[in-house]
Amino acid sequence: MKIENSGMPEESYWNSLFDIAGIIEWLALPKAAAKIVEIGCGYGTFTVPLAQQSSGEIYTFDIEPSMIEVAQTNAGRAGLSNITFEFRDVLEQGTGLESNSADRVLLFNILHLAEKRIFLQEASRILKVGGRLAIIHWRKDIPTPRGPTVNTRPEKIQILSASDGLDLDYQGNSKILEPYHWGMQLVKKDNGRQ
Ligand SMILES: C[S@@+](CC[C@H](N)C(=O)[O-])C[C@H]1O[C@@H](n2cnc3c(N)ncnc32)[C@H](O)[C@@H]1O
Repeated sequence: MKIENSGMPEESYWNSLFDIAGIIEWLALPKAAAKIVEIGCGYGTFTVPLAQQSSGEIYTFDIEPSMIEVAQTNAGRAGLSNITFEFRDVLEQGTGLESNSADRVLLFNILHLAEKRIFLQEASRILKVGGRLAIIHWRKDIPTPRGPTVNTRPEKIQILSASDGLDLDYQGNSKILEPYHWGMQLVKKDNGRQ
């Protein structure tokens, strides 16, 4: 099921709404080759620069074939071969990736749905212990030129409540990502079962 209000405006306009380099810096990617997963790649706004900065593998999914096509073209233009693109409904089918295998999972501009826990659970499943889930979304405290209806935009407290009982630990990493976004990171904790 495609998440409501997850359609995209024109590509260069969308990209102009973020400090992309600042957001990637906030992710603090591991120096060693890492497995990074992005759910809902859109145009590859973050996928492509991430792949440029990572010596590891990026796995990304989108429910829209047209988005996969554009993101793949952008990756090709950048000469990248370390991204695996998959057309997939992650809400219905999950990622299909191995449990405890990812260093980073990104849920960027996608968590404005009632069923947040489905994505959070999948992220928790595929992350390695110590791996991090990074979430960004539109701010609610200021007017923004785009973004889903304000009352559907997730807040930290809703994300923490939706991840209750999962192996995801909030350690205070939350930040305003100027101009229009905010982000938080959750760390996969060891439950003794891995
Ligand atoms: C608002 S866009 C954000 C794209 C990208 N994460 C970014 O921040 O630039 C959300 C993306 O999620 C995709 N999407 C929506 N529902 C999905 C689902 N069930 N499974 C996978 N992708 C989905 C949409 O097609 C869209 O490309």
